[in-house]
Amino acid sequence: MHTIQTGGTTKVEIYQEILPQIESLIRGEPDLRANLANISAVLKASFGWLWVGFYLADHNRRELVLGPFQGPPACTRIAYGRGVCGRVWEKGSTIVVEDVNRYPGHIACSALSQSEIVVPVWDKTRRLMAVLDADAETTGCFNGTDAHYLGRLAEIVMRYHG
Ligand code: SME
Repeated sequence: MHTIQTGGTTKVEIYQEILPQIESLIRGEPDLRANLANISAVLKASFGWLWVGFYLADHNRRELVLGPFQGPPACTRIAYGRGVCGRVWEKGSTIVVEDVNRYPGHIACSALSQSEIVVPVWDKTRRLMAVLDADAETTGCFNGTDAHYLGRLAEIVMRYHG
C-alpha cells in the first residue's frame, strides 16, 4: 500500500489498487462502522489527506453525525443543508471544493484544510446513509478523478450495507 502519492504512481493507479482491497476488507464483515473505520484508514494511508472519514445520516434529526474517520478531531453534527456535507445531502450529488476559503458556508473543522470533496453514500432505496468527506492541506487537491473513484467506493459500501 502507498503512503503518499509520489514518483510515477498516479491517483488513478492508487484508486485501482485500493478499491478491490477495500471490497475484500468489507466483504466478510457485516458491521457498518467497523468497515467505514477500515475504509478511512486505507484512504488516509494511501493518499495522506489531512482528514478523511464519514458522517452518518440521522434522519429523525435531519443531521449528519460524525462517524469513523482519520485525522484531527472534527465537528460532531452538521445540519441538513449546512456546510459542504449538508449541501451534498440537500443536492444529492458530490461536491468538489477547490478552495474552501472561497466556498460560502464551508464549515472549517481545521484551519489547515484548503480543499475538500464530499461524496454521498446512498442506501438501496436512494436514501442517504452517509457522506464520505476528505480534506487536504493544499488547494485543488481533488478533481473529477476523485469524484469518480470515491463514487465507486460509495457504491461498494451500498452493495454490502445498503
Ligand atoms: N468541511 C465540512 C465539515 C466537516 S470537516 O471538514 C471534517 C463541511 O463544510 O461540511
